[in-house]
Amino acid sequence: MDIKNQIDKNKLPVHVAVIMDGNGRWAKKKGNKRVFGHRNGVKAVKNIVEAAGEIGIKYLTLYAFSTENWNRPKTEVEALMSLFISAVKNETENLIKNNVRLKAIGNLNLLPEKVLKNLNEIIDKTKNNTGLTLILALSYSARAEITNAVKTIAQKAAKGELNPENITDKTVSKHLYTGEFPDPELLIRTSGEYRISNFLLWQISYTELYFTNILWPDFSKNDLFEAIIDFQKRERRFGKTSEQLK
Ligand code: FPP
Repeated sequence: MDIKNQIDKNKLPVHVAVIMDGNGRWAKKKGNKRVFGHRNGVKAVKNIVEAAGEIGIKYLTLYAFSTENWNRPKTEVEALMSLFISAVKNETENLIKNNVRLKAIGNLNLLPEKVLKNLNEIIDKTKNNTGLTLILALSYSARAEITNAVKTIAQKAAKGELNPENITDKTVSKHLYTGEFPDPELLIRTSGEYRISNFLLWQISYTELYFTNILWPDFSKNDLFEAIIDFQKRERRFGKTSEQLK
């Protein structure tokens, strides 16, 4: 049977997050420069966005650039920024046609003006779309996100807009970049690394983790479907016992 048909549409993860890793190693294996890997990584992004839309995933978050990635060689950072611009431009029509709503999380002010401008344009053009919400994590770090939230909450408390006694985990969630989105139910990391790397630390408390050795440029639609089928076999207990779930 076709792997896609094995997916139970009633048990889909509402939100899937992906750490797209291994572009550099993929390129090196082929005797090419790292940028070649990133370019092919964009193709994998297109496939995965399409696949997520096809099966009815509501939210897909992709870790495209971390705060730490700013420390990579200047040429690589510049190449990635150009890739973001061209990908966003080239895909605008497609996103609109497929009813995808684009969003971005991270310290976006650090992005070059041109990247931010192009990004904001497409975010605006797709804002009323009702299909998949595609969230790009750009210049993103979870610790910075949490620190930022703490700062805003403290400022509100100092101004008397918020009573510290009433701060709950929902207050914190609401002040994160992801405030309007549900937490991911499934987190995929490619390339055989078993780390979270400062990604969505608060939001993944109960997320199912899926690691694969596949390098990101090779990650196909079927690989996403396989991860979802694996997710559907797991028992999510949220701290309860198996018996309590019955
Ligand atoms: C990790 O591989 C990948 C990145 C840091 C960049 C991710 C970017 C893309 C997939 C392309 C553009 C994306 C969008 C959303 C248009 P790595 O370079 O860390 O690989 P390595 O671990 O093998 O060195």
